Amino acid sequence: MDKFPIQLISWFEKFGRHDLPWQKNRTPYSVWVSEVMLQQTQVATVIPFFKRFMRELPTVKSLAAAELDEVLALWAGLGYYARARNLHKAANLLVKDNNGHFPQTVKELMELPGIGRSTAGAIVAIAYNQQASILDGNVKRVLSRYHAVEGWPDKTDVKKKLWGLSEKHTPTDRVAEFTQALMDLGATVCLRTNPRCIECPVNSHCVARQKNLQNTIPGKKPKKKRLSRKICMLLIEDVHKRILLEKRSTNGIWGGLYSLPELSVGQDPVEWCKKTLGLKITSQKVMQKMNHSFTHFDLNIHPLLVRLDDVSCQMVDHDDRLWYNPAEDIQVGVASPVATLLKSLQSTGE
Ligand code: ADE
Repeated sequence: MDKFPIQLISWFEKFGRHDLPWQKNRTPYSVWVSEVMLQQTQVATVIPFFKRFMRELPTVKSLAAAELDEVLALWAGLGYYARARNLHKAANLLVKDNNGHFPQTVKELMELPGIGRSTAGAIVAIAYNQQASILDGNVKRVLSRYHAVEGWPDKTDVKKKLWGLSEKHTPTDRVAEFTQALMDLGATVCLRTNPRCIECPVNSHCVARQKNLQNTIPGKKPKKKRLSRKICMLLIEDVHKRILLEKRSTNGIWGGLYSLPELSVGQDPVEWCKKTLGLKITSQKVMQKMNHSFTHFDLNIHPLLVRLDDVSCQMVDHDDRLWYNPAEDIQVGVASPVATLLKSLQSTGE
């Protein structure tokens, strides 16, 4: 037999929270309002808002009859105002289509705006004491630790597994107490950092605790991998040690600034110079790679210093190209890694 629910309920009787305002004079409506307010907000913040809301709008009918502005005014300061709009809309749907009666099943509740699977489960469990499961942020943490489920809990397959575990542990009796106990355990004992495992009623079977993995489970949301692009920048040097710069098009990175000619990494510079510029290269030298970070990607620059023969030098004649002498101050705007490269040429006396 699964001991988890009974251990949790026994703990809840002694240590759980029993005097929260939504635990008094409980109605399906008051449970709904409290669960929606608690979706992204801490208990302590919700308490005064909940009390005032219930005083002003104590029934589904009164909520439906209220102006949206009044509902929003009662919500002002709680944040995530779509919740208030959805609450108002759902109340109107219930009055219009359901004669003000409150649905009793997870399926029907989930058809209302602003009620997801976990909120629907909490309403059925807490308001009707009927078997239904929940999986909010706290519960994800409790269950992933108890069963040592690795990975980020919002990843589809991990979430599916956690829903299965939540359903497996949900008892048929005393569901309301079990549900509140599970939430309270997550909020007061199975904390994100420094969980109070010693105080936990289910610590003897918690696999994360047995393996000392409380700090790595639940897994973190994976960071998006940064995109990166590799390019070769050519420092084309003539016999006077001048470097060829070219103006970039106004679109794209460094739009309108002067920069070095760019090639794909691995492209043959001899061929490229001959074909694109009509220049003949006599030597090549690989320079130190550098990295330049943009907001959305990293540019890996592979610089290559190439020298021209005597004859080629005069042959670049183009509005958007110029020969720049690195010993002089630069008169045009250049991209910052290009400025660094030009400076490095001077300091190394290349
Ligand atoms: N968070 C979501 N629902 C809750 C509830 N009923 N009690 C405490 N915290 C909650």
